[in-house]
Amino acid sequence: MRLLAVDHPLVAHKLTVLRNAKTDSPTFRRLADELVTLLAYEATRDARVATVEIQTPVAPATGVKLSSPKPLIVPILRAGLGMLDGMARLVPTAEVGFLGMIRDEDTLQATTYATRLPDDLTGRQCYVLDPMLATGGTLAAAVHFLVDRGAEDITAVCLLAAPEGVEYLERETRELGVPLTVVTAAVDERLNEKGYIVPGLGDAGDRLYGVV
Ligand code: URA
Repeated sequence: MRLLAVDHPLVAHKLTVLRNAKTDSPTFRRLADELVTLLAYEATRDARVATVEIQTPVAPATGVKLSSPKPLIVPILRAGLGMLDGMARLVPTAEVGFLGMIRDEDTLQATTYATRLPDDLTGRQCYVLDPMLATGGTLAAAVHFLVDRGAEDITAVCLLAAPEGVEYLERETRELGVPLTVVTAAVDERLNEKGYIVPGLGDAGDRLYGVV
């Protein structure tokens, strides 16, 4: 597994505002969106392209376009939905699949409650959106789910990660033999006893959408 914590002043600035408990939901949503777009730039560094011939107003030229099959963006509901627009803005030709997963707040175990994904993901580059890589249970389950459907190349985009989650994800996906990259704005100190990232930014879903 490859871990990329993006070191950039704009990323650090936006993340600081997101962390601030005083930041309201509309501002949080806008900044999460902007931050994801910056992370998406790094996450798509290995996006597959094919050569194309075009004509500029001046001369013929050789360029590239994102190649088939189309990349697949998979937000993990609910909080991953707040990252979708920021990602899709940079990869507008991508298709979008959905994975609904919920973490039991007592056992911290992830269960899948909804899926809307192609049956066959063979050859697809998949970009999984999950804001908080905390225990790693949800993301590990999502990666297994996608690999079972044939995904061969997975990049997870997370606003924040905890060392425990990174380690767990590494351990749980090692045997899969599929390239897995995690792109995040920062790896924080630790998890607390409730499975929250410290210092973190709180419950990403609640901060995006309110407590419902
Ligand atoms: N999920 C969140 O939304 N926040 C955390 O800190 C951990 C898991």
